[in-house]
Amino acid sequence: MPLLSTRNNKMPSLTFPVHFLLFFFFFSIFFYHSTAQTTSFRPKALVLPIIKDTSTNNIQYLTKINQRTPLVPIKLTVDLGGDSLWVDCETGYVSSSYKPAFCGSATCSLAKAPCNSGMCPSDPKPGCYNNTCILSADNTFVYLGTPGDVGSDVVSVPSTDGTNPGRYVSAPKFIFTCAPSFITVGLPNHVKGIAGLGRAKIGLPSQFAAAFSFKRKFAVCLSSSTRSNGVLFFGDGPYIFLPNKEVSNSLIYTPLLLNPKTLPGIDIKQEPSPKYFIGVKSIKINDKAVPVNTSLLRIDRLGLGGTTISTVHPYTIMETSIYSAVIHAFVKELGGHAPRVSAVAPFGACFSSKNIGGTRVGPAVPTIDLVLQNQNVFWRIFGANSMVRVSDDVLCLGFVDGGDTSAMKHPIVLGAYQLEDNLLQFDLASSRLGSLC
Ligand SMILES: *[C@@H]1O[C@H](CO)[C@@H](O)[C@H](O)[C@H]1NC(C)=O
Ligand SMILES: *[C@@H]1O[C@H](CO)[C@@H](O)[C@H](O)[C@H]1NC(C)=O
Repeated sequence: MPLLSTRNNKMPSLTFPVHFLLFFFFFSIFFYHSTAQTTSFRPKALVLPIIKDTSTNNIQYLTKINQRTPLVPIKLTVDLGGDSLWVDCETGYVSSSYKPAFCGSATCSLAKAPCNSGMCPSDPKPGCYNNTCILSADNTFVYLGTPGDVGSDVVSVPSTDGTNPGRYVSAPKFIFTCAPSFITVGLPNHVKGIAGLGRAKIGLPSQFAAAFSFKRKFAVCLSSSTRSNGVLFFGDGPYIFLPNKEVSNSLIYTPLLLNPKTLPGIDIKQEPSPKYFIGVKSIKINDKAVPVNTSLLRIDRLGLGGTTISTVHPYTIMETSIYSAVIHAFVKELGGHAPRVSAVAPFGACFSSKNIGGTRVGPAVPTIDLVLQNQNVFWRIFGANSMVRVSDDVLCLGFVDGGDTSAMKHPIVLGAYQLEDNLLQFDLASSRLGSLC
């Protein structure tokens, strides 16, 4: 499905979603038939499945890695803007290759992790050593964080040549935070932690790039269905979708912007945010400008403002004034043939779907464009990514009012529903986001 578009290339591709489905089908077969093996073979890229999970209050996107010695499969929730990996070490963590990160070690400095002054009263075990550095294990779904020992262990994942998952490869000292079990609250059953894909040095993209000497790049496609897997590539393309369509040369790019502050609004020196930001300059609905306060859309000195992308939020959240302007323009463009009906939480604008037709890019509703670095590059949201079916005859615009600027540090948070079934490539080295046109 098209996403980033240019003016002269606006035709949606009819066949692309079909290729995706075929790809996912073959992917799962190959994935389960691969056997774990560790060699010195150097992969060009890695590939992991992404599974949409609706068993909790949130929608979460899960992946699976193998970790420890002997290797065990570990299910993790993916957090696109998360800074690193944390795993529950308190329950059932058995491994002969776990290494604590002691204060002053290279691991602690790479992780920018402070030294823990506390003592571990028991015998040493993963998550409980003296004189280690610590990081916060953040559960972004329930807004909880807790300190945990930094450590490293073997991680084994399938490599790929772009077509199918291939042999497993191992990163022998993959850094993560060893967290207590209670912090997994709100994650689906059997999920042991959160995998941060953010731009920090110990984020998954940077650690895999360092371990296998490939570019700091990853690509993700979230599936809209719980029955077919999405996909997460680390490293460079080719990304080949059946039948033999190589897509990494067809991407359109927009700059990824650096937010200087991890804790926006606090005026002390901090690390840059691990989250990904893009430069939305204006919003158009059916090609007509929506009046919004564009100064909100810039990232300021304190790290406030701007547009970020999140897999933790199931739907796009907008600051109240922007949200209202978007709803107003959308209702006007939709016209009288789709009457507004009572809102269904968390959405504010719902419509009778009786007269809304279907197209190959979802319900036939006005397009919503997030205009990027210039008028010719925009993120176009079609009905498939804008409308949520809440009942047989009601469709809601899948955007949520996030409150005013005191409640929202970033006035636009692009949520997972708006990303689904689109291939997004995050190129950290060149600081740009690519998508298919
Ligand atoms: C940490 O140090 C304390 C005090 O020396 C000791 O009693 C305890 O056993 C040590 N714990 C570990 C995990 O080494
Ligand atoms: C636009 O937003 C900025 C930043 O919050 C604010 O200072 C300014 O007053 C707003 N302008 C209008 C016209 O509301």
